[in-house]
Amino acid sequence: MRKVLISALAVAATLAVATPSRKVAAQVDLGVPSKTGMVVSSSDIAAETGAAILGRGGNAVDAAVATAFAMAVTSPSNGNIGGGGFMVIRQPNGAATTFDYREMAPAKSTPTMYLNAQGEIDMSLTQQGYLAPGVPGTVRGLAMAHKKFGKLPWKDVVSPAAEIAAKGFKLSKSLASGLNGETIGTEERPGRMKSFPASIAAYGKPGGGAWKEGDTIVLADLGKTLTAIANDGPDAFYKGWIADRIAEDMAANGGLITKADLANYVAKERAPVKGTFNGYEIISMPPPSSGGIALLEMLNMLESVGLPNESRQSVKAIHLIVEAQRRAYLDRARYLGDTDFVDVPVAKLISKPHAKEMMSTLQPNRASSSAELGKDILSAGKLPADEPLETTHFSVVDRDGMAVSNTFTLEGGYGSHVVIKGTGMILNNEMGDFNKKPGTTTSTGTIGTPANVIAPGKRMLSSMTPAIVSKNGKLVLVTGSPGGRTIINTVLHVVLGVTAWNLTGREAVDSPRWDHEWMPDRVTFEGEALSPAAVNQLKAMGYDVVLRGEQGSAQSIWMHPQTGTAFGIADLRSPDAKAVKGGS
Ligand code: DON
Repeated sequence: MRKVLISALAVAATLAVATPSRKVAAQVDLGVPSKTGMVVSSSDIAAETGAAILGRGGNAVDAAVATAFAMAVTSPSNGNIGGGGFMVIRQPNGAATTFDYREMAPAKSTPTMYLNAQGEIDMSLTQQGYLAPGVPGTVRGLAMAHKKFGKLPWKDVVSPAAEIAAKGFKLSKSLASGLNGETIGTEERPGRMKSFPASIAAYGKPGGGAWKEGDTIVLADLGKTLTAIANDGPDAFYKGWIADRIAEDMAANGGLITKADLANYVAKERAPVKGTFNGYEIISMPPPSSGGIALLEMLNMLESVGLPNESRQSVKAIHLIVEAQRRAYLDRARYLGDTDFVDVPVAKLISKPHAKEMMSTLQPNRASSSAELGKDILSAGKLPADEPLETTHFSVVDRDGMAVSNTFTLEGGYGSHVVIKGTGMILNNEMGDFNKKPGTTTSTGTIGTPANVIAPGKRMLSSMTPAIVSKNGKLVLVTGSPGGRTIINTVLHVVLGVTAWNLTGREAVDSPRWDHEWMPDRVTFEGEALSPAAVNQLKAMGYDVVLRGEQGSAQSIWMHPQTGTAFGIADLRSPDAKAVKGGS
């Protein structure tokens, strides 16, 4: 199945590269068109929920808030109220802002809380259970964005999700199988919710057995929680009975989050990072995400050396893109963390001179060495790399051209696997995004630099990269992706597709992607993106080349440059993704 999809993607990309692409794509598929608004999400039900809000006169922020709450119900592996994320908003006049609702470390957290007696990271503590979660930010962040920009009443945009949870919804094939994996599992990989009775009560099939496609799942407790949030606002979550339940459950199970942590949680409005590439303007998320800075750095580096007049999958283009990726991810490891706690030279990092300097070490036809470039921060020792791959991105545009790019997450699929008793809500395991072994940065991808070490109240570094592209003041592209550290590179490929290779949004999203993250020093390619000859050529240049399955899931909106029609592009790497027209 995966192989077939990748083959199709590879063929689409070949067409795009080998022909004057616009014309071919116009006959084939540009996405779902709309002049009245669009929502694209990896959950079809959530996209329909957001689009219905557009139809009721809501703007892009109203629709985004409704989509996000719906995803907390219909996409429990990543949609959430127990996690956090980032929202980038661009108004029709070009004014832009972002909302940071990343989780914060509880007051009782310490820099070495995940190290065992031997001083090694104990992944069992960061991957699941009561020590794994940061203080959730989603409800505060969505409320903050809605308060500033929403047109419809809060209750109207939250209630649809509460209704879906209370009435139940039909499981897709992939969600049924995902839930079975978590609640039942196999002999080799027992369901991780099994250690948490409230999680099995909420997500296991009533009466036991396996979920099947088409079964209806009712999430009664989650419905009550969402109804309280709809009726009483975010304080129900941070100060009311939901906060009581979280604090009680934490105290009873050795967790750290207290009522005070919840009451003290703050979402923040932050100025976006902004850059230019090839005549386009790009806005994205500042720290505590590394995404915006690294994206702009890579675009600046590629602009400084110039992309070749050859296909995007030519060895020449791959070489330049990988070397930009390597250097941006080195800066990420070296400098980035929560700017409320550490100084990050943001202006320098996203400047054109810095990009030029970074690319001054580029070797023609030869892979650079990550170890050599980053020897100042590299320490001895090997630790397993530990980035799970579950997050979700959705994009919204309304009839006036207001755009919302939102990525949010529980970190790993189903987060900590802990459902707080009586709430139906799954908590994140986001604390694992901190540098858990201070001082240890390895060739396998573990980072221990000071900027992202745990401290009470600090936000863990993220790779989430919600991005919006415009040109001459006109909206061009809304995009973003899940995928852990690969996120930034996925967004780079989609943005480059439109801005450098002149692809349509559909082609840019479908095209094969590749990823280099400084360490480990290897480049991974999606499926059959590369011919054997190209693989051999890259190996001869010194690259460690790995072929893998799908990378990311970029639910995007592309504005047709001539007609201004919004095209919703569901990235079919997520089987339940859908682009839904809003309004009429
Ligand atoms: O914030 C981050 O960068 C990670 N917690 C995201 C995790 C992720 O994307 C997993 N997704 N597919």
